[in-house]
Amino acid sequence: MNFKGKNILVTGAAGFIGSNLTYELLKLGANVIGIDNLFNGLIENLEEILENKSFKFIKGDIRDFNFLLEVFKDIDIIYHEAAFTSVPQSILMPESCNDVNVNGTLNILNAARKKDVEKIIYASSSSVYGETPSLPKEEDMPRIPISPYGVSKMTCEAYMQVFHQVYGMKTVSLRYFNVFGPRQKDSPYSGVIAIWLGRIIDNKELIIFGDGEQSRDFTYVKDVVRANLLAAEHEISGEIINLGAGSPITLTELGKLMLKLTNKEELKIVYSDPRLGDIMHSFADISKAKELLKFQPKYTQEEGLRDYFKWYCKKYNKNLIIS
Ligand SMILES: NC(=O)c1ccc[n+]([C@@H]2O[C@H](COP(=O)([O-])OP(=O)(O)OC[C@H]3O[C@@H](n4cnc5c(N)ncnc54)[C@H](O)[C@@H]3O)[C@@H](O)[C@H]2O)c1
Repeated sequence: MNFKGKNILVTGAAGFIGSNLTYELLKLGANVIGIDNLFNGLIENLEEILENKSFKFIKGDIRDFNFLLEVFKDIDIIYHEAAFTSVPQSILMPESCNDVNVNGTLNILNAARKKDVEKIIYASSSSVYGETPSLPKEEDMPRIPISPYGVSKMTCEAYMQVFHQVYGMKTVSLRYFNVFGPRQKDSPYSGVIAIWLGRIIDNKELIIFGDGEQSRDFTYVKDVVRANLLAAEHEISGEIINLGAGSPITLTELGKLMLKLTNKEELKIVYSDPRLGDIMHSFADISKAKELLKFQPKYTQEEGLRDYFKWYCKKYNKNLIIS
């Protein structure tokens, strides 16, 4: 798709993935409105584009239907990234998770329908598979989420499909698998790579919850952004598509790789009790993304980590020697 002059709205624009997507859309010449209630996102994530004439940030909540009706004027495409994103917090506060993720998403669909938005591309999650035993995860497998967060994501992608079937709206759900990269928060609830990078810089040991044999399909955010662009470009609708690197790595292997790339192999990896709601193995079959989106990941995990570490050191003036 030629994004030049297109009006795109990104929900969760001040968050990790939403901000990366927003920067790229602006580079491609789109006019972008970013909305976020700053519950978890940071305005600093948008600091390089706040003065850009093609970008407008509006603070607001996706649970506020009237707010959405106001901001959805003349929008061609919505990228819906806003969410209650923490699995452990969803276990502590299932109602809040449901309210933001399910009610908020239903609001977006209803408002988009009223305002004739052309297409909605939704950020779903590999957490919908839960403890489904088979690997790699294929889109048609049963969904057995094991956290309120997973349930909310499963419900939202079902809504995306139903709004396509019942109202003929163009919707696509991309099931992200463990995304990492620039602007990911280093907080107790964010991805392990951002947390470990913070600990490596502070010369602290890396902590693994469980035996370290759990595996993940870590996907570099630049590949996730590219797949989102492809989902707008291709004439597909009502689809749910896995979006991963397609190559699993165990947490112990990841820890060792991060220590090697940052020349901090003297730091220890320590093991603690497993966390409730954590899935043991997760790994995407990305054949559908290859077929429908012509998507091919450009970054191996090692290349993604290197690119991320370099960005981080430059941005925060940190002195790490990256191999
Ligand atoms: N990061 C990953 O590994 C991953 C994996 C699978 C799926 N996802 C999904 O991708 C999307 C983006 O995730 P992220 O990692 O960038 O998380 P994030 O927490 O950095 O971004 C989410 C953004 O949504 C905003 N938000 C929360 N509640 C809101 C509300 N009520 N109204 C408006 N804005 C609100 C937050 O302030 C935040 O900026 C989410 O839908 C998430 O579930 C992420």
